[in-house]
Order: sequence, then structure tokens, then C-alpha cells
Amino acid sequence: MTTTEHKPHTSPEIGGLGHSRTRVEDARFIEGRGNYVDDITLPGMLHMAIHRSPLAHARIISIDTSAAEAVDGVVAVVTGELLDGYNLAWMPTLSGDTQAVLAMDKVRFQGQEIAAVIATDRYVAQDAARLVEVEYEDLEPIVNPQRALEEDAPLIRDDKEDQTSNLCFEWESGDKAVTDAAFAKADKVVSLETHYPRSHPAPLETCGILADVDSATGQATLYMTSQAPHAHRTVFALVAGLPEQNIRIISPDLGGGFGNKVPVYPGYVVATAASLVIGQPVKWVETRSENLISTGFARDYYMKGELAITNDGKILGLRVDMLADEGAFFADAQPSKLRAGLFHIVTGSYDYPAAHVTTRGAYTNKAPGGVAYRCSFRVTEASYLIERLVQNAAYELEMDPAEFRSNNFIQADQFPYHSPTGFVYDSGDYETAMRLAMDMVGYADIQAEKDQARKEGRLVGIGMASFTEVVGAGHGEDYDIIGLKMFDSAELRVHPTGKAILKLGVKSQGQGHETTFAQIVAEELGIPAGDVKVVEGDTDNTPYGLGTYASRSTPVAGAATAIISRTLREKAKKIAAHLLEASVEDLEWETGKFFVAGDPESSVSIQDIAFAAYTNPPPDIEPGLEGVHYYDPPEMTYPFGTYIVVVDVDPESGEWKVRRMVAVDDCGVKINPMIVEGQIQGGLTEGFAISSMQQITFDETGNNLGSNFTDYLVPTAWETPRFELGETVTPSPHHPIGAKGVGESATVGSPAAYVNAVVDAVQHLGVENIEMPMTAGRVWDAMQEASGG
Ligand code: CDP
Repeated sequence: MTTTEHKPHTSPEIGGLGHSRTRVEDARFIEGRGNYVDDITLPGMLHMAIHRSPLAHARIISIDTSAAEAVDGVVAVVTGELLDGYNLAWMPTLSGDTQAVLAMDKVRFQGQEIAAVIATDRYVAQDAARLVEVEYEDLEPIVNPQRALEEDAPLIRDDKEDQTSNLCFEWESGDKAVTDAAFAKADKVVSLETHYPRSHPAPLETCGILADVDSATGQATLYMTSQAPHAHRTVFALVAGLPEQNIRIISPDLGGGFGNKVPVYPGYVVATAASLVIGQPVKWVETRSENLISTGFARDYYMKGELAITNDGKILGLRVDMLADEGAFFADAQPSKLRAGLFHIVTGSYDYPAAHVTTRGAYTNKAPGGVAYRCSFRVTEASYLIERLVQNAAYELEMDPAEFRSNNFIQADQFPYHSPTGFVYDSGDYETAMRLAMDMVGYADIQAEKDQARKEGRLVGIGMASFTEVVGAGHGEDYDIIGLKMFDSAELRVHPTGKAILKLGVKSQGQGHETTFAQIVAEELGIPAGDVKVVEGDTDNTPYGLGTYASRSTPVAGAATAIISRTLREKAKKIAAHLLEASVEDLEWETGKFFVAGDPESSVSIQDIAFAAYTNPPPDIEPGLEGVHYYDPPEMTYPFGTYIVVVDVDPESGEWKVRRMVAVDDCGVKINPMIVEGQIQGGLTEGFAISSMQQITFDETGNNLGSNFTDYLVPTAWETPRFELGETVTPSPHHPIGAKGVGESATVGSPAAYVNAVVDAVQHLGVENIEMPMTAGRVWDAMQEASGG
């Protein structure tokens, strides 16, 4: 059921679901008391800097470290050869590929790690790193996947025994024969060929590590910028051969992650190895440019889509062929059965029986990545393609794009909906969300104004995207990262005084987990949220989990939290029966207390029960009130929404300005509406940036042209439009608290709405597509080309 109103069940003092509780973590951030990796110092700490390749593709003839070693204050210079002695020159990636830790044979992208200088001072390390001399033999750099797959293209991954071409993976989904048959019946076929450009998550805090390996005990304590500390610990155990119980990863406060802090980077491994060998702590923190040129990028998908439609506006089928630029190493952290992530959600919010998706990934001479940057695995690209195609189909039929969507939406009574590429959508009401957005923006008025404006020589456009995202991976049977099933966990301990500590396998990067997960406990147990401390990001002190990315915290760890709270409530009921001298069957629950049915005066609070759990437990029940739950989701959750953008385009310059941006989101039951709004505002800002200003591009030699914040633009409040937010609430039926994830939807849905709006403004000139980022120059060029000017 969809409502636009959601009332909390608990009082503000308890602060359960639906309360806009103030973020508890902000007190320390506002007071400058955040604790980031670079804030941590240890006695005897050394610093590491990395010498990186200036070339995109070259054979290494020799590496001379003597000048760097001679610098006063340099303790050691580490090369791949040295690491090879410890079997550490190569490491596995989270996508099951291998990646050079320090390059020995070839460099495969500009910025690749070749040598690391360890010194007593950070600046000495950086100066000395520049003195490492490498002799190269140039090789042809491959800067796009099309060239990579040509027969005469040089082989990038000649390190891999069975690799005979630059093909990184091939994957397909859906039914080809059924889709071909659907296309044979179509009145029209609408097609679109487009590129979702490479962008970068650019978290404000770059990546880093402080590795402290104690040579006496063999204990490795790694303070690390990690979105997935448990998975990273397992990778470290496998890579370095260290016993897993001796590795403790502490991921302290993170200054943003956005997928960028999921991959294991060579710098982490080298710093750990250096600390192990030297016997002192070693810190490495990237510079901004190092982050932008060498760490996990996002997107870079070349997509061809075809939609089979009838003259009366029905979709019959979808065909997609996609080519991914994966860079030199396949290091995305996609679920291992799904080489293009969840891209096959490309069928979108629409009901049709046939879809066939073919995907190929190619190695190129670029940094690896393809991370889940404010989206579930590759869902942004998918959502962009289908929403652009749907808009173009409506133009083709001279139909209103909203009517075309309406005609094809999966209806509210069709859920759970089985998509032609194998997803089971949990719930949705797409029509209501779209109509709400249309009402908010005044859709009919703007359509009317648009026609009038055109007569006056003004260009006004209205664009829409009605996206469906898929979040909360797994279930473990189908979703794993290098074999690790995609579950997550929560451990809850209620202390004798009724205060609690909740320990999670996920790891916040700014999403407000310390605030919201306490609210779930408050809802389920009636312990005030302020009495629940949330702990994350310490592998010695939290249960195993796969981490926070792809909007999985609420759907998976949130569910684990609700279930362990319920388990403790069941135990609390038995203790309450003992205290009230009543039978368990006669007890009823009301937030925070059990009472005897029909006798509300005979009650006992959760706090009294907690005390009794340690001081006066029933004889047949083990003492204490704590437990852990590992949640393997039965299905994923499917947040959705409709975004509408109104733009004014300057016919003289191509400059476009956002006049209105209305965003209606549905993430099911909200834990904290204020935090949800913050997540959406953040995602919308990133979506705006991607569509208007952000792109990491390369010249023909493989030189990265987006290596700093003057070339790669991060939006400020100045250029970011005002967003008008609306909501519907369609709970997820299989989720313990009815919540769907929300962390990423805004970035998933909004870029298509911006491009659709600008294309709409200039579409009557014959413009069918404008590539992102839509700079004024690109829009102007597209108008000129279409009008033959
Ligand atoms: O995995 P990640 O934390 O990035 O994403 P998420 O759990 O989908 O949503 C981000 C944050 O929004 C959560 O950590 C919660 O703080 C909040 N949220 C909420 O309050 N209610 C929801 N239904 C979904 C998310």
C-alpha cells in the first residue's frame, strides 16, 4: 500500500522508526573531534610515498632506487622484486582477477604503483619517491574498449596465462529467442547508443592506512579507510598469509566512501608488508591526485539499447548490448556470478515479457574501478539507459512521456513481480509516485508553457525518470564477493542497567548508522535510542559482515538488527513471566514493557527485565540478554521514484539552467526521515554533477585529464539547484521492518531526468541524444549538428 504519510509508533523519547532524531555522530564532527586514519599517530611511525608510472602502457626495463635510498631519512625503498620474495608482488582483486601490487614487468595505466619509499617524514618520503628512476620501453596505450577488442590490439594482461585478448568478461541475461520473437512483432524499434562516462566518487577523505605489525607478537593492527573491514581482513589473510586472528582492521571515521573505499589498494598491502619487515608502524595517505588517477573510478559503460514498441504505446521487449571499460585490472567487487553487477535491472519499472542483455568488459590502459559509486552494482548505468530509451520511445510515437510510462508501468497489484532478467521486485506503486511528482511540478502547465516558449524562440524542456533500483545484496546463494556470501550481521548486548551496545558488520561513511540503527533497537525493544551505542568498523569487536556499499546497510544489517532485537524480546518475555509470576502466554508487549493481558498494572519494563537477566534469571534460562544474528536476505529490496527536471536552454550558447527539480522517492518505511532526506539531497547533488560537469577523460596517450579538482569538478552550493522533495511509502513485504535502502537512489535516477529535460528542450530541432556531462558546448554542438548549421 502506498501512503504519503508515515506516523511513528514510539514516542520521541524512545525515538524508534520514523523519528528525525538528531545525528549522534555529528557532535564529534562539528567539534573537530572526528577520528580519521590520518589523525592517528603511533610511536616510531614511518611514512610511505608511492612512485607511480607516468605512462599508460610500457615495459619496465629497469628500476633504479639508489638515488631515493641515499636521501637522508629514507629507511627503505620497496619494489615489486622485493615483494616477490614474500610472494606479494600480485594480489587477488575482489572480482576474482589479479592485480600488480608494485609493477615489475609492465606498467598498465598512468599512475600505477611501481615503488614505495618509507621514510621518517612524509615529505622526505614524497621527495625521495620522485627520485626513483624507471627505464621504459613504450607500448601502444589502449584508451577505449573498442580498440581494446580489435584483433591487432596489443595484449594488456600478458601476465595471465590463458589471456589471449583484452576481453575481460562476457556475460548475458534474459532470453534471446523470446526477445527476438518480441522484436519481430514490433511496430517500431527505438534505439539509443550512448556512453555513461567515467566518473570518480572523490570522497573528501582520500584512501590511506596506518599499518602496525608487531614483530614480537605477529599481531597486525591496520587502521584503514575501509567500507568492508571484515572482507578486507580475509583478503589480507589470504594475500599476506597472516593468520586471520592476528589481523585487526580498524576502520575509524570515514570522510565519505561512495564505493571508492571498497577495493583493496596496493598502498594498503605495501604499507603492511613494510611494517612487517621493518618492525615499525607505517602510514600511507594518498594525495588528492593519487586518489583521482589510481583508485576505483565509476561507470564507463558504452551502451546500445533497443526497445520494441507497438503503435499504441506498449513495450514488447528490450535488447541491450553493453561494452564496459574496466581498466587494467578487474577490481570492481561485483558479485562473482554477475560480471556486470546488477546491470540487468535495465528492464526498469516496466512490465514486458522479453529482454536480452549482452555485456562485455574489456581491459584498457586505465586505472581499475567500476565501483558502486552512489549506486548498487552498475544500476545507475542501467537506469540511465532505460529511462532515456523510454523518453525517446514516447517522442517516436508523439506521445506524452508520462502517458507512455503509465501505459507500461508494472502495476501495484503485480508485485512480487518477476522481471524478464530474473529479478523478483518486492513492492512498488510507480504510478502514484509519478503522479505526485507531476502534481508537484505542475506538469501540464509546463508542457503548455513549453509550446508557447518555442513560438517565442525560448527553449524550455521537461524531463523525467521513473527509476527502480535494486539494493540490499544478497541472498547469499546467488550473491557473493570472492566466495564470501553477502549476508550481514548484528550483535546486541543489553547491559544490566538496560543500556545497550549494538555491533554491526557494516561500516558507515557518513550515512548516520550510529543514529539510525539505534532507532531500530528502540522500535523493537523500547530501549530509548539514546541508550543504545552503535559500534562498527573494528574486526576484533564486531561480527562478520560484508560491509557498506551498494545501499545494503539498511536492507541487510538493518534486518539483522531488527531480528536480534526480536530474539532478545522473546527471551525478555520469559524473564518477564518469571518476574510477574505469570505464564508466558498471558503476557502482552507494549513498547518497552510486558504486561499481563487484561491487567495493565501488572507490568515490567525492559530495563527491569535486563537487570533481572543478570541478577535474577529464571532457573531454566541462561543468564544475560545478548545475542547475534546473521541475516541472509530472502530477496533484495527495490526502492523507486520519479524525478522531474525543468530546464531553460539558451539557444545562443547551449547553456542550460535548472528551473525546477522535483524528486519523489520511495524507500519503504523510513528509519529516520531527516537522514533519508540528507541521503537524497546528497545523491541528487552527485547526479546533477555527473550530468553537468563531471567526467574523467584521457588523451590518446592514456594521460588522465581529470587528476585534480580544477579539472574534475565537485559541485558546490553555488551551482547546485534547489531540490523539491516528495515521498511515497511502499513497505517492502519481506523486510522485517518494511524498509528498502535509499542510500543511492537519487544518483541512480536523476542523471537521466536531466538529460531527458535538455533533450526535450531541443528535441524539436532533431536532437536525439546529448552525452553527459552536458556542457554548454556539447548542447550547442548537438543543436548545430541537428539543424545542419
Ligand atoms: O548502505 P548505506 O548505509 O549506504 O545505504 P542505506 O542503508 O540504503 O541508506 C543510507 C542511510 O539512510 C541508512 O544508513 C539510514 O541511516 C538511512 N535510511 C533510513 O533512515 N530509512 C530507510 N528506509 C533507508 C535508509
